[in-house]
Amino acid sequence: MNTPIPFSRHGEHVLVTGGHGFIGSHLVEALAAEGRRVTVLDPADPPPDLVVPAGAVRHVRGDVRDTTLVRKEITATTGLIVHFSSLVGVDQYLYDPLDVIDIAVGGTRAVLDAARDAGAKLLLASTSEVYGRNPDTPWAEDSARVLGPTTADRWSYSTSKATAEHMTFAHARRYGTRATVLRYFNVYGPRQRPAYVVSNTVHRLLRGVPALLYDRGDQTRCFTYVRDAVEATLAVASSSRVDGVVLNVGSEREITMAEIVRAVGDAVGCRSDPVLLDTGSAFGSVYEDIPRRVPDTSRIAGLLGWRATTSVEQGLRETVAWARANEWWTGQDPDERDERGAAR
Ligand SMILES: NC(=O)c1ccc[n+]([C@@H]2O[C@H](COP(=O)([O-])OP(=O)(O)OC[C@H]3O[C@@H](n4cnc5c(N)ncnc54)[C@H](O)[C@@H]3O)[C@@H](O)[C@H]2O)c1
Repeated sequence: MNTPIPFSRHGEHVLVTGGHGFIGSHLVEALAAEGRRVTVLDPADPPPDLVVPAGAVRHVRGDVRDTTLVRKEITATTGLIVHFSSLVGVDQYLYDPLDVIDIAVGGTRAVLDAARDAGAKLLLASTSEVYGRNPDTPWAEDSARVLGPTTADRWSYSTSKATAEHMTFAHARRYGTRATVLRYFNVYGPRQRPAYVVSNTVHRLLRGVPALLYDRGDQTRCFTYVRDAVEATLAVASSSRVDGVVLNVGSEREITMAEIVRAVGDAVGCRSDPVLLDTGSAFGSVYEDIPRRVPDTSRIAGLLGWRATTSVEQGLRETVAWARANEWWTGQDPDERDERGAAR
């Protein structure tokens, strides 16, 4: 294998915070396959089906808010930090908004300071949630943020990720820290916790339980296959032209929730009707849904030539095939909670 080109002149090591999670674990596999040396900082175990060459990845169990640990792991040989650590998912925002905020803000400050001291480049994983429910789609990176009241916990994620973005730009201005912000749009695929529309529907249908559909399923999303999201992340990591830039990372195919649930049914080979629910009675006033979520991806296409290329049908086929082969995932209880009561 050829030695890969370092992401920064400071060093070849890559630190991935939250690298045992869904997107992070796929990125870690891709980095390790390129011959890079990777450290993962995550309180969770690696996924059981993680495939990396022996010795390519160091697994450090820890909290990204632990500034001493973060400084220890980000050293002069760290060229790139990909900061994925986060509490993700509506169930988490509603269960523990304080930790959602604390990890986004405290964790980002910790990695920014360590990135500055090491001279490493940082990729911050942000989200389409920062646009809130702005009715003017598609959303370009400088589109307005339209959010509900602070009494609705669902906005805690959007607000804390946007604060992490502000911190990143402020840090760059004050200290010259090199950083790029990636706003991912509805990523799905193998290993995703069964708490999101695609993963939950796959998980339920494979167990013979009907899918759930909220508010008749008219809301739209642009589902992005995880391999495309990883390719975008690697393209950003390898570019020297995107420091200080925000990039939308998403598919441009807008489909309704009802359509995606039906498409998962087709991929599984199951045509049962979904159970209809409404978010008002399921979650109460702490929740508000977003009617349409569509990215304008012309910036990342123009700068890096990246576009999502995996069709929903292909991505779902691969996701379902993976799920059928991974009993550790299909056997999971989606409502399982840890000792604090948080989702696992
Ligand atoms: N999946 C998506 O559709 C999507 C969309 C937009 C943005 N994102 C962002 O991408 C990133 C990765 O998302 P994901 O879907 O892989 O989520 P995930 O929940 O699968 O992964 C997050 C990882 O962060 C780890 N983590 C949580 N608290 C931590 C802490 N205090 N210290 C260190 N690690 C901690 C978790 O253990 C987990 O492994 C997140 O920052 C998320 O906000 C994801």
